[in-house]
Amino acid sequence: MLSPLLLAAARSERMRGLVTSVPLTRGVVDRFVAGDDLEAALGAVRGLRDGGLRVTLDHLGEDTREAAQAETTRDAYLRMFAAFDECGLAAGADASVKLSALGQALPGQLALDHAREICAAAGRVGMTVTLDMEDHTTVDSTLETLGKLRTDFPWVGVAVQAMLRRSDGDLRDLVGDGSRVRLVKGAYAEPASVAFQSRHEVDRAYVRGLRLLMEGDGYPMIASHDPRIIEIALALAAGRSPSSYEFQMLYGIRAAEQRRLAEDHRMRVYVPYGADWYGYFMRRLAERPANLVFFLRSFVSR
Ligand code: FDA
Repeated sequence: MLSPLLLAAARSERMRGLVTSVPLTRGVVDRFVAGDDLEAALGAVRGLRDGGLRVTLDHLGEDTREAAQAETTRDAYLRMFAAFDECGLAAGADASVKLSALGQALPGQLALDHAREICAAAGRVGMTVTLDMEDHTTVDSTLETLGKLRTDFPWVGVAVQAMLRRSDGDLRDLVGDGSRVRLVKGAYAEPASVAFQSRHEVDRAYVRGLRLLMEGDGYPMIASHDPRIIEIALALAAGRSPSSYEFQMLYGIRAAEQRRLAEDHRMRVYVPYGADWYGYFMRRLAERPANLVFFLRSFVSR
């Protein structure tokens, strides 16, 4: 009941103004976001790498309606690659990119052009790029952009959302040699016409997707905190080389489990940073009502 409300609030400018203007929100946001700037992100990355964890960096922002803002986002990624290179943190690191932040909704091929520049810069310092998947209206455009990027940068990966009814078909198209697919449950409010609505159906779809990926020739990225999903993934991965797949989780969620898995498996943490944390934060609240209680309690306990 609460999740749809929170996901609707994630898209509301009025709620954004309200939530982001309250200074106390910050303490709760810090649990999920590494910090406002690159410096803070680098600090978080160093800590994670010391614990044997790999990273993917997300410069926060989405739904850009202005070309200048899309350029600012591109430049933020370019600065991040340069800083990672300078600090010796680039090798094996990944960047997660939302095409909507690069101008996907704007006319022309601005997002593709920016994504190309981002991929070229990432490749030069030994990093990879994975495209995030946003609401269902963007999936065709994101997959089309992925196809174009992969011509020059075959290592570009993409997230696929198990909750979408179309995803079995998309995964079949994506399991080929060299493809990197990040399987997620899906974090957006979607209508029943395009998405499974019950947890049970989404979990079943996730396991179907896992099977397809594990039987394919690509590099599966199992992005879930769900202990049952992780157990099933481990069983399906038996016989695969440990370097042919990886687990992924979000910064601040099940951190002890991240370190435990990293002892025997590749484990990558998705590290978001930047000032535009509102949409990301609201989706994390929607995933777990207990987070909302924690958030509200931070107001009354001061
Ligand atoms: P589920 O929601 O069932 O959670 C399982 C358990 O994990 C919970 O019981 C709880 O213990 C813990 N947990 C999960 N979410 C939590 C939270 N917010 N706070 C505290 N505990 C929590 N989505 C999308 O639509 N497009 C995308 O591109 C991406 N990208 C992405 C990258 C990576 C690396 C990850 C891990 C996830 C995404 N997601 C995403 C988000 C994803 O779709 C999904 O919403 C979350 O991962 C939660 O789903 P779980 O699979 O963890 O299961």
